[in-house]
Amino acid sequence: MIEIHDLCKTFGSDKDDTRVQALRGIDLNIEDGEFVSIIGKSGSGKTTLLNVIGTLLQPTSGTVHIDGKNIAAMSTGELAKFRNDHIGFVYQSYMLEDSLSAVENVALPLLIKGEKPAKAMLKATDMLEKVGLLERKKHKPKEMSGGEKQRVAIARAMINDPTLILADEPTGNLDEETGRNIMTWLRELTAGKMFLMVTHDKELAMTADRQVQIKDGRIC
Ligand SMILES: Nc1ncnc2c1ncn2[C@@H]1O[C@H](COP(=O)(O)OP(=O)(O)O)[C@@H](O)[C@H]1O
Ligand SMILES: [Mg+2]
Repeated sequence: MIEIHDLCKTFGSDKDDTRVQALRGIDLNIEDGEFVSIIGKSGSGKTTLLNVIGTLLQPTSGTVHIDGKNIAAMSTGELAKFRNDHIGFVYQSYMLEDSLSAVENVALPLLIKGEKPAKAMLKATDMLEKVGLLERKKHKPKEMSGGEKQRVAIARAMINDPTLILADEPTGNLDEETGRNIMTWLRELTAGKMFLMVTHDKELAMTADRQVQIKDGRIC
């Protein structure tokens, strides 16, 4: 379960007039196994919220508990391990390593965890098969279509069997049909896990179990 209480994030400072209150007191709970979408316009704070929950950004104030653990109480090293072991990220721009093949990209979180390379490659191959990409195993990102790249990214996000999957506009760079296809993979693979997706797309948001609206850094 995720429990978010009075979460605020401010960027910049008053000194040089760069202060932006991206999150202004967010309260939100996500139950185990729940698929929640957060919908809001560009600039409403969606990516900031996702990155704070994903422990990539420190909140200015407020708390986030993931499965009872207060993420603010963890050291940088603990957070890196926690992220790698428990959180899967899916981004609009895929964020794959260009120099690595599909299977190497998927194996990366296992290698970071200390898994032996041969075993990591076997597991990554199985995961690629689950997203129907066995025949693209040795392809580099630049040799794949957008939909294929996103399937590699989904396989990478799922390889450590995370408890939480965070997706930021996962179909934002894809055509409608490919986007629907990607959502089918995401729904299937994240079934029974906590899945939080942020999007500006109402239709996409409606595919979730529950929709939450964000406006100017507040849930409304
Ligand atoms: N690293 C940053 N530094 C300064 N301002 C930021 C930073 N990241 C986001 N912002 C600002 O915070 C607000 C929310 O941004 P963001 O969370 O990216 O919105 P969304 O994902 O909904 O489009 C915007 O006004 C944006 O300009
Ligand atoms: Mg965003």
